[in-house]
Amino acid sequence: MSAPGAGPPRRILPVLDGIAYGSDYNPEQWPESTWAQDIELMTAAGVNLVTVGVFSWSRLQPAPGELTAGWLDKVLDLLAGAGIWVDLATATASPPPWLVAAHPEILPVTVDGNRLAFGARQSYCPSAPAFRTAAADLAERMARRYGSHPAVAMWHIGNEYGCHVPACYCERSAAAFRDWLRARYGEIGALNDAWGGAVWSQDYTDWEQIEPPRTAPTFANPAHQLDFARFSSDELLACYRAERAVLTEHSPGKPVTTNFIGMFRSLDQFKWSAEMDVVSVDSYPDPADAEAHVASAMAYDLTRSVKTGRPWLLMEQAPSAVNWRSVNVPKAPGQYRALSLQAVARGSDAVLSFQWRAAATGAEKFHSGMLPHAGTDSRVWRDVVSLGSDLRRLAPVAGSLVHTEAALLLDWESWWALELDSHPTSRLRLTDLLGEIYRPLLQAGVTADFVHPESDLSGYRLVVVPALYLVSDAGAGNVARFVADGGTALVTFFSGIVDPRDRVRLGGYPAPWRDLLGLRVEELAPLPEGEAIRLEGLDAAPEQAAGRLWQDVIDLRGASVLLTFAEGYLAGEAAATRHAHGRGEAMYLGTLPDRVTLSRLIGRACRQAGVEARTDLPPGVEAVRRGEFLFLISHLDRPVEIDLGAKHHDLLTWTMVGPQAVLAPRDALVLAREPREAGSGPPPSPSG
Ligand code: GAL
Ligand code: ZN
Repeated sequence: MSAPGAGPPRRILPVLDGIAYGSDYNPEQWPESTWAQDIELMTAAGVNLVTVGVFSWSRLQPAPGELTAGWLDKVLDLLAGAGIWVDLATATASPPPWLVAAHPEILPVTVDGNRLAFGARQSYCPSAPAFRTAAADLAERMARRYGSHPAVAMWHIGNEYGCHVPACYCERSAAAFRDWLRARYGEIGALNDAWGGAVWSQDYTDWEQIEPPRTAPTFANPAHQLDFARFSSDELLACYRAERAVLTEHSPGKPVTTNFIGMFRSLDQFKWSAEMDVVSVDSYPDPADAEAHVASAMAYDLTRSVKTGRPWLLMEQAPSAVNWRSVNVPKAPGQYRALSLQAVARGSDAVLSFQWRAAATGAEKFHSGMLPHAGTDSRVWRDVVSLGSDLRRLAPVAGSLVHTEAALLLDWESWWALELDSHPTSRLRLTDLLGEIYRPLLQAGVTADFVHPESDLSGYRLVVVPALYLVSDAGAGNVARFVADGGTALVTFFSGIVDPRDRVRLGGYPAPWRDLLGLRVEELAPLPEGEAIRLEGLDAAPEQAAGRLWQDVIDLRGASVLLTFAEGYLAGEAAATRHAHGRGEAMYLGTLPDRVTLSRLIGRACRQAGVEARTDLPPGVEAVRRGEFLFLISHLDRPVEIDLGAKHHDLLTWTMVGPQAVLAPRDALVLAREPREAGSGPPPSPSG
């Protein structure tokens, strides 16, 4: 948890003195004659940071050996001359045709055993030695040549690791998996024990018998699948690490990142972030979704959390439409701005897009760019320029920390195990459940961190445990201690079910938390699609209160009842409970209540925890405190009135607003606690 404005500001990049603005810049897709205009327009828009070279391997190294990179030297010089910093890619995200032709074994293999063809992007097996060697070689040439170029502010390794190929099932990956397993278990008996080899005749007698969990006659062994998920995240991380080592050696002192995908199941971001100087994320909520801002808020909170609250970079978003959905709706007027300000509110010190100039060729030509096909006489361009000036006004926000009092526990190992097959229901998906819990918190202006179960929880007042299916003894003890010490926990169904080997903890669920919760779940009773069970109780919605997705058969052992099932064979039995434990309280949800009921229960948990939960925010308006500023952002397409309580200085307009204020459609206020002096000076630039 971070107190408002606590500690000295922490900049993501020492060279930047405000919120960075820019995009991916792919000048190699355009004739050199356009570059001068690019620079001129970037300057007009206030762009001061661009990511260069992410997919440039074939243009930088058209054959093994020396870089033919004269074009990149020119581009970097032009950018430096204009005072625009560069996040320089190692350019290893997509291997070029010559490498694939020489080493066809680097092409990845799917779970069904199909080798994926060249012709799209990111076609590599993370375990392939030929890929790793070539990538490290390119990274070294890039670092040696550009490591001290005055434009280069930071390094960008790979791109969205795991996006298209989260795991490879080829023979080389199989061998690497065996090595990984040997290191984890030491001897084969330990592996058989961990995987439950006695079930379905799976006791291995030699490491060589073990394959990746490819498509099999029926459900593959879940512990085998879980280890393969761990291995696959580690294997991609090894690729990243190898390049990072090269950069550290040949370009010391420059921050290194790679761009995450937000709520993405394949990479253990807690583990990855330890290897990153600054974390960054790509964010593409669907503009056609009325709750796009909920999805992006959650991803932004996650990104901040994986680097324990430190400022981060919004590396990519679309200025308007993307090209990769079946229907690609443009962003509504004001939506690019509102979602950008949302990122800043939630801790980002950069607002970058994909990409600068909308492409004229290739697979992404109908993806929006900051400079659209239509040119500068366009809505998108005008919005791009005006956001640039908004962000300059937000310079005082940079480096400050987001105020949070609530934590949502998240562990990738549990996520992997939770969503394996042969479970009580295949309808329980972690991102969906997190969204259900996150929505009412957002609505109440409660900003939450995502926290690993074994992390220090003492700074939080409220800890939510959403379907934390797998938990270690240490994680389980940590939650119980948090409550005993006076915290409030809200635990949902299907938590604390197995240990890190995916072995059921016996004696009634959730075994490690039965005392904490004052109950024992005897049986798991998921609900079929479309079925809902009426709920009753103090917090039940006045109309149509119902449980969805899941029912626990709860045997009370000291807990008191908050909600009961009102129909079906569990009629009259507990559906939600509370239980005092030590100096705190633990609530339990044995079903997924309808949204109104759930939001009342979360309101109760906040009150119990002493977390301020607002009830005055119109749905679709968010409130986030960062440093000494309160961000109020509307994602609505109609004006709304807000009571600010008093007059405040708004950083975006440099005017006093309130106590009553009207937020125009998708408009925002950034309110300072104290009145501010105008002008904090221009940020430094690479040209000095
Ligand atoms: C991202 C990717 C970018 C671009 C973008 C388009 O996944 O990192 O390179 O393709 O999608 O939305
Ligand atoms: Zn492979």
